Amino acid sequence: MKITVVGAGNVGATAAQRLVDKELANEVVLVDIIEGLPQGKGLDMYESAPIEATDTHVIGTNSYDETAGSHIVVITAGIARKPGMTREQLQDTNADIVKGVTEAIVAKSPQAILIVVSNPLDVMTYVAYKVSGFERHRVIGMAGILDTARYRTFIAMELGVSVEDVQALVLGGHGDSMVPLVRYTTVAGVPVTEFLDKPTIDKLVQRTRDGGIEIVNYLKTGSAYYAPSAAAVEMVKTVVKDKKRILPCAAYLQGEYGLRDTYIGVPVKLGRKGIEKIVEVPLTAEEKAALTKSAEEVKNNIAKLKL
Ligand code: APR
Repeated sequence: MKITVVGAGNVGATAAQRLVDKELANEVVLVDIIEGLPQGKGLDMYESAPIEATDTHVIGTNSYDETAGSHIVVITAGIARKPGMTREQLQDTNADIVKGVTEAIVAKSPQAILIVVSNPLDVMTYVAYKVSGFERHRVIGMAGILDTARYRTFIAMELGVSVEDVQALVLGGHGDSMVPLVRYTTVAGVPVTEFLDKPTIDKLVQRTRDGGIEIVNYLKTGSAYYAPSAAAVEMVKTVVKDKKRILPCAAYLQGEYGLRDTYIGVPVKLGRKGIEKIVEVPLTAEEKAALTKSAEEVKNNIAKLKL
């Protein structure tokens, strides 16, 4: 198993480190345009392998030659948000970057599964899909696992219970229009509404929507990377181990949920082939309307692309 991570910045390097620590590949290749950055981080990481007791070999490079034959490629290249910026303001810059990265990757790894992390997430995953020409099950966006993890964390914090016991599903685009499904949120199998009143749940839902900017406002120089890299690695792990987990991911829809020709966060069954099934959970009229509105926002941004 060979995994490439493009972008050796905060998200990419942390993702690579997690892949190495978890020994999820024989080889991890870290690519960046900045000379020396991926080489230095890659070597530093490899030097941690004897201590972490992992045999994953990691190298850093500025060229795509070393990425040839990758099974999975995680794309984190691009600029990150600073305070006052929306994810959409990254679109023009990151679309050019993701387009170039995808072309370079596809030339060397035509069979790879692409996991996109660059923002605005749903639009960038669409860019990778269109530019790669890959089937839709091989181009997947990371957002739902992150949004769901934030939501689960806030509920666990509020109740003072283990994060492991909070199960939830956040659908929709990775932005203000995301759709946390309160009806499907449980604590040890019991609906969350048995534990928390509506105003409290509404507050936690809003904090989830603002989860990204909350971190940006703290960091000031960039955006979140511990939870985003963990979420991307969760997807990698599910594919590598063919776990067939049901996880919320950005997928290209062709009629599912009444939506088509757009990427949007929905539950999918992930396995060795990538997306093995798009899972259509029953939604109320209100939930469906929120998902449709979220998809329309993504579509409007897709329409602005100059590919
Ligand atoms: N090819 C390869 N790497 C590139 C390219 C490119 N064409 N363009 C930029 N990069 C690299 C940068 O050199 C930098 O090292 O991408 C890296 C981005 O790292 P950071 O600036 O630390 O940003 P990060 O926090 O990792 O976020 C990356 O993921 O979560 C999203 O919104 C976030 O779009 C952003 C992306």
